[in-house]
Amino acid sequence: MKKEKQMLSDVFSLISKYIEENEDEKTLVIKNKTPKDLRDEIDFGIKKEGVSEEELVNLADKYLKYSVRTGHSQFANQLFQGFTYPGVIGEILTATTNTSMYTYEVAPVATLIEIELISKMNCYLGFKNGEGTFVPGGSYSNMIAVLSARNKFRPDIKKKGIQNNDLVMFISDQAHYSFRKAANMLGIGVENIINIPSDKDGRMIPDKLEKEIEKVISEGRLPFFVGATAGTTVTGSFDPITKISELSRKYKLWLHVDGALGASAILSKKYKHLVEGIDRADSVTWNPHKMMGIPLSCSVILIKERGLLENACSVDHGSYLFHHSEESYDLGQKSLQCGRRVDSLKLWLAWKYFGEEGYDARITKLFELANYAQTKIQEKEELELLFPLQSLNLCFRFKESSNEINLRIHNQLLKSGKSMVNYAKIEGKISFRLALINPDIDEKDIDTFFENVYEAKETICGNANG
Ligand SMILES: Cc1ncc(COP(=O)(O)O)c(C=O)c1O
Repeated sequence: MKKEKQMLSDVFSLISKYIEENEDEKTLVIKNKTPKDLRDEIDFGIKKEGVSEEELVNLADKYLKYSVRTGHSQFANQLFQGFTYPGVIGEILTATTNTSMYTYEVAPVATLIEIELISKMNCYLGFKNGEGTFVPGGSYSNMIAVLSARNKFRPDIKKKGIQNNDLVMFISDQAHYSFRKAANMLGIGVENIINIPSDKDGRMIPDKLEKEIEKVISEGRLPFFVGATAGTTVTGSFDPITKISELSRKYKLWLHVDGALGASAILSKKYKHLVEGIDRADSVTWNPHKMMGIPLSCSVILIKERGLLENACSVDHGSYLFHHSEESYDLGQKSLQCGRRVDSLKLWLAWKYFGEEGYDARITKLFELANYAQTKIQEKEELELLFPLQSLNLCFRFKESSNEINLRIHNQLLKSGKSMVNYAKIEGKISFRLALINPDIDEKDIDTFFENVYEAKETICGNANG
């Protein structure tokens, strides 16, 4: 036991060193290794005999060494970035206390934390009688929204299963692919999703939505769900929620807002207008593991009408676990999971630490950083902004270069390990998708990012355009 305690303390020292290195300019975001390189460095096999404590610490060291540094100021690859101390503290406490969210009995403090946060988030959304639960991610959250809607429109499916499906869902052509996964899982079928075209800013076009709804009705099918997006994955666009809500009311559809990325804008006084009308939604996906900087995963589904979530998720036969009393604090029946990790603590600690004002400033700063990066792109003659800035995502490319060259520059940047950014195809053009989701960076880091991009370009093309 003594040796194991020492091992834990050694790993904490490694973590401390790792965090310090993140702040060192010379530290690379990623040490580019092939699977073969990694297999040469790390013995992945599980053997008959265990390893010593020293070897375990050594494995932890290698894990830190070869993993992507998502907390590094030059990591701009995903819609999660950065490193929040209270979030990490919450994660450590969660693992240390290791409990499950199904009953108050085994998770008393975490239950009250979750209740408090769900109520706080509902309050921001303007859901006066709302409810919700923490889920393993935005995809799952979107799925619960579709399930809750399906259960409202066709409650018989829960008992009898899908008979002849006539349900139809609507999302924009920019929506996240998780809606398709939900349609797959819930027996609705991916072909019963209608993609509504978006405008030049990547926002769903309400008139087109109305036409499609009318068409579906005329075919004798049942339109039941419209998924608007607040912050699309590639371009960061915000659908016009108020207009879409007018249609969802007119045709009595469930309106879901996928705010996995963008719901957090509501925390910023300056930018909350982006989600105007969100209070009219029936459900909202909100991922604090994106803009709020909470370690993965931290995602919440919020439902406006209390009771619908439990109705959709609960089944009989849990009496060994749920010893129901009148005023039950057991959250398990509001979830599809049995064992469920405590994802609320890290968010609670971070929100406690930064406060409402701190988060207002952090989220506002993200938008300002994106504006700065946009100016940088516009200033550079060789670069082309492929999409007008909508929120935090910037899609740009070297305009005189072919797709192949842009891709090679991207790959060279990755190979250098100096900055890490994703790419996407926009109207057939390969573009860098710079996502700025870390409020702990500053303008200097954005300058460094572009210097690294240009350095990669020079390596590929020399000084001439490719
Ligand atoms: C708009 C949107 N919705 C849903 C998701 C899925 O979220 P998660 O990765 O937490 O499953 C993403 C992921 O980036 C997203 O951008």
